Amino acid sequence: MQAAVVRGCLVLSVWMIAATQAGTRFQDVAEFRRTGHENHHIHGWSPDSSSWDDQLYPAWKSGDPRWENCWRGGKVVALLTSDSPALIGSNITFAVNLRFPRCQKENEDGDVVYERGCANASFSDQYVYNWTKWVPFCNEGNCSFSSKFPDGRPFPHHHDWRRRNFIYIFQTLGQYYPTTGRSSAVLSINTTNITAGAQMIEVTVFRRGYRKHYPVAKASGLYIVTDQIPFYVNISQKNDKNSSDHIYIKDSPISFDIKIHDPSHYLNKSILSFNWTFGDGSGTFVSNNPVSTHTYTLLGNFSLKLTIKAAIPGPCKPVTPTPLPTTGAPTTPHTTIHTTGNTTVPPFPLTTGRT
Ligand SMILES: *[C@@H]1O[C@H](CO)[C@@H](O)[C@H](O)[C@H]1NC(C)=O
Ligand SMILES: *[C@@H]1O[C@H](CO)[C@@H](O)[C@H](O)[C@H]1NC(C)=O
Ligand SMILES: *[C@@H]1O[C@H](CO)[C@@H](O)[C@H](O)[C@H]1NC(C)=O
Ligand SMILES: *[C@@H]1O[C@H](CO)[C@@H](O)[C@H](O)[C@H]1NC(C)=O
Ligand SMILES: *[C@@H]1O[C@H](CO)[C@@H](O)[C@H](O)[C@H]1NC(C)=O
Ligand SMILES: *[C@@H]1O[C@H](CO)[C@@H](O)[C@H](O)[C@H]1NC(C)=O
Ligand SMILES: *[C@@H]1O[C@H](CO)[C@@H](O)[C@H](O)[C@H]1NC(C)=O
Ligand SMILES: *[C@@H]1O[C@H](CO)[C@@H](O)[C@H](O)[C@H]1NC(C)=O
Ligand SMILES: *[C@@H]1O[C@H](CO)[C@@H](O)[C@H](O)[C@H]1NC(C)=O
Ligand SMILES: *[C@@H]1O[C@H](CO)[C@@H](O)[C@H](O)[C@H]1NC(C)=O
Ligand SMILES: *[C@@H]1O[C@H](CO)[C@@H](O)[C@H](O)[C@H]1NC(C)=O
Ligand SMILES: *[C@@H]1O[C@H](CO)[C@@H](O)[C@H](O)[C@H]1NC(C)=O
Repeated sequence: MQAAVVRGCLVLSVWMIAATQAGTRFQDVAEFRRTGHENHHIHGWSPDSSSWDDQLYPAWKSGDPRWENCWRGGKVVALLTSDSPALIGSNITFAVNLRFPRCQKENEDGDVVYERGCANASFSDQYVYNWTKWVPFCNEGNCSFSSKFPDGRPFPHHHDWRRRNFIYIFQTLGQYYPTTGRSSAVLSINTTNITAGAQMIEVTVFRRGYRKHYPVAKASGLYIVTDQIPFYVNISQKNDKNSSDHIYIKDSPISFDIKIHDPSHYLNKSILSFNWTFGDGSGTFVSNNPVSTHTYTLLGNFSLKLTIKAAIPGPCKPVTPTPLPTTGAPTTPHTTIHTTGNTTVPPFPLTTGRT
């Protein structure tokens, strides 16, 4: 008798541990796991150790056969793009666009319908998915059925809530961000806390359901965060026969137009300086103008060097750890210039030839 009771307790406690471990977390759903821990919190994102309600959001890995039949009339493809590379401190923007199967489109109401007169099709029902029929069950977005993200948080209020029938779960760097939307979603991340390098981002898209939400598509991609200003140089010369062969005419000015890749306008207020060495013994040439011209008077192969510096106005960062304040005296915020984005291109070749 005694032994049997002890055994019963043991079984029970083992089962309880197993139940705790079985709870799905965002990191279990992610396809790509974080490798390092050097990244800090992304503002507005949550750690992927949060639990994921897999009753409400069935989680499938890519390759799961259920993806094949999760949408009526074909497969939805999620196209994930970004404006990478991003300089640390700037914003990187991701866009997801859903591509529906042939003859399907999202209408103004946010429902997915069959396109009229598409490829001889005669569809008995106009709708692929009719979400409008649920609107009577919702009060300004507060629906009597599930309007929650996998972590249990309610959907945020949007004036166009009735058209936001897709749920997007973004995951990167061991953190996640959920949002609702139509057939496309755009998301920006401020890269201040992200370490330079290549990172993976993934997005899982669900369509709104009544008791649960249904997986629709999954996409992932690489993005690059860098401490070097991303740019390219457009080299052009009047009367140049072939603009792609890197061969230019002697004694005729060549124009070097530096194009900075800064889609979030992070460097708008910074002072850029361009330090050129044209490789023909003419010394260095420093300018604040992205367009420079140079005339080579010699025939030959030249190796050019360019260093770009951006002085970004911002608060002064303490060099040594700030000691804890001993008095309550407020310090006035002050502004100084700190230099970042010191970019040097590896020397690149240029050849001059006769006309
Ligand atoms: C960077 O990390 C700090 C500390 O975790 C946080 O307070 C801040 O909001 C983060 N900044 C951004 C832009 O993510
Ligand atoms: C990102 O956050 C940092 C610190 O909060 C700020 O200085 C910087 O301007 C932000 N970048 C963008 C593009 O908003
Ligand atoms: C559409 O109809 C045309 C003419 O009736 C026919 O030639 C064609 O094969 C049909 N296309 C499809 C996809 O059924
Ligand atoms: C779709 O919903 C709208 C609005 O409730 C309704 O008028 C329409 O009949 C529905 N269509 C189907 C096929 O259920
Ligand atoms: C939605 O429901 C929540 C909680 O029940 C309530 O606090 C909120 O005011 C409601 N919003 C609207 C627009 O009805
Ligand atoms: C950068 O992204 C954040 C969201 O992470 C956004 O709040 C901010 O407005 C963006 N800044 C710019 C300049 O795009
Ligand atoms: C490079 O500059 C030339 C001349 O100004 C211009 O015609 C061309 O479109 C530019 N190319 C790019 C990719 O910006
Ligand atoms: C221009 O130069 C490129 C690179 O050397 C070469 O592939 C291309 O054939 C050239 N075009 C002409 C019209 O000569
Ligand atoms: C930066 O400059 C561009 C073009 O000059 C302008 O369109 C944009 O609004 C500016 N952005 C900021 C954040 O100042
Ligand atoms: C420009 O770069 C050269 C080396 O390439 C360096 O010697 C020079 O000091 C730089 N000039 C400025 C103003 O930074
Ligand atoms: C420039 O380099 C090319 C290939 O590297 C070579 O064929 C050519 O002879 C060189 N021209 C001169 C003037 O040195
Ligand atoms: C800029 O980068 C070059 C090469 O990496 C380095 O030699 C130089 O010291 C850097 N300058 C500044 C101001 O960071």
